[in-house]
Amino acid sequence: MLFGRTKSLDAILATAEKKGLHRSLGAFQLTLLGIGAVIGTGIFVLTAEAAQKAGPAMMISFVIAGAVCAVAALCYSELASMVPVAGSAYTYTYAVMGELLAWMVGWALILEYAVGASAVAVGWSGYFVGLMKSWGLDIPLALAAGPDGGGILNLPAVVISLLITGLLIVGTQESARVTAILVLVKVVALTVFVALTLPVLNGAHFEPFIPNGWGTYGVVGAAASIFFAYVGFDAVSTAAEETVNPQRNVPIGLIGSLLFCTVFYLLVAAGAIGSPLGAQPLRDAAGAVLAPGTSELTAKCQSVVATGLAEPLVCSKEALAHVLRSVGYQRIGDLMGIAAFVALPSVVLMMMFGQTRIFFVMARDGLLPGKLASVHPKFKTPHVVTAFTGIVVTLAAAFLPVGKLADYSNSGTLFAFAMVALAVMVLRRRDPARHRPFRTPAVNIVAPLAIIGCIGLYLNLPTLAKLVLIVWGAVGLVIYFAYSRSRSHVGRGIVEVDSDPNLQPELAQKPAE
Ligand code: ALA
Repeated sequence: MLFGRTKSLDAILATAEKKGLHRSLGAFQLTLLGIGAVIGTGIFVLTAEAAQKAGPAMMISFVIAGAVCAVAALCYSELASMVPVAGSAYTYTYAVMGELLAWMVGWALILEYAVGASAVAVGWSGYFVGLMKSWGLDIPLALAAGPDGGGILNLPAVVISLLITGLLIVGTQESARVTAILVLVKVVALTVFVALTLPVLNGAHFEPFIPNGWGTYGVVGAAASIFFAYVGFDAVSTAAEETVNPQRNVPIGLIGSLLFCTVFYLLVAAGAIGSPLGAQPLRDAAGAVLAPGTSELTAKCQSVVATGLAEPLVCSKEALAHVLRSVGYQRIGDLMGIAAFVALPSVVLMMMFGQTRIFFVMARDGLLPGKLASVHPKFKTPHVVTAFTGIVVTLAAAFLPVGKLADYSNSGTLFAFAMVALAVMVLRRRDPARHRPFRTPAVNIVAPLAIIGCIGLYLNLPTLAKLVLIVWGAVGLVIYFAYSRSRSHVGRGIVEVDSDPNLQPELAQKPAE
């Protein structure tokens, strides 16, 4: 039977106990992990793209995207607290809806995490190139952008991806410490932005509020793209297996980081809209709105700047720094650029971290080669899978532009979130008596809302991003039936995973308390 292969929850928990990663993260570290994963390219870079679609109504787009994430996070929290092991949506789906759907979710999560990490690396590269330029070092376009941006490969994005791969191989504890400092940098930078822009906010710039309507190239389309600004909170649940007292700490980490970021985004968006730049979209000669990421919009931006006017917000590759300069804070604008330069790598790190843990669990289940689940004898990290993830992330970052990568990432994420919400509802019916340390409130409303929200946003992504999920899913199905299905531990009746000769003896140790 197609959906028959499920992994029992008890077996998942027992496996994690036996072969788990070291438990070292607490509630505070987990919330930091969440904020570290969430605030990034979305707010620092893609705000310009959201403004081109929605104008000042991008504030509504932030609320829509945040609301979908909030209901999804409530569903995540129930499963993450019940099943506190690595693998998040993949593991939940395996237990509740069977191996095939779990494989599809794990496969979609590669889009979320690996492609998302690439998107942030490319966003970082934009700030880096801008900063170098303002310091008098012009990085040639050939080495500063992929083919879509008129270059050959994005060298800064390649370098940062490789550096972060190295950090992750050395270990979570070191990485979490670095992350804590960088989270602080981001929070201070955004606080300064809000403190300097809100007092000089010009209310007139909020009119017209909804210049492009509600459609795919309007408010909801902007929500579908800016959804990326919230992606990553689920990295918290992915780290559940490395968390002390996950039943309490995972829900705190998930919901706490999401709430914190939503408030910040709304304030930052208001500050940007109310600045002298405003946030109105650019149109062609016929009055039609230009799509973000097109050569037509680039040409229009160049023609506006050529007339001597300030570069519009929707054209900027370093939106927040540009806004601060437009308000008159030239040097603080530069500091904002430095903050993004310093802090965005923490987002790449968290997304790659999530990806390696998902690969790790899929390999542990036999769906991917067992070698990937090897744990380094000294660093105690899954070093093989980390190196593999690093190569994938680096290649995507080298050749693709940030907006497209973010939209592709969103398509995979929305699929995974919808599946988690479905899994919560199925499990409530199938196993109502099981202990749930955190219960999704009003689950019969919240879970369907999460599913509807995810589908609604997916349908409002650009056509190419929608196709990416479908093509990626088809490739995943081929691999599943050609390779994974016959090797699956559940399919082969292997529940005691430590009997697998591919796994290193270290894995059989009990995790240190
Ligand atoms: N939410 C993360 C960002 O905006 C992925 O960079």
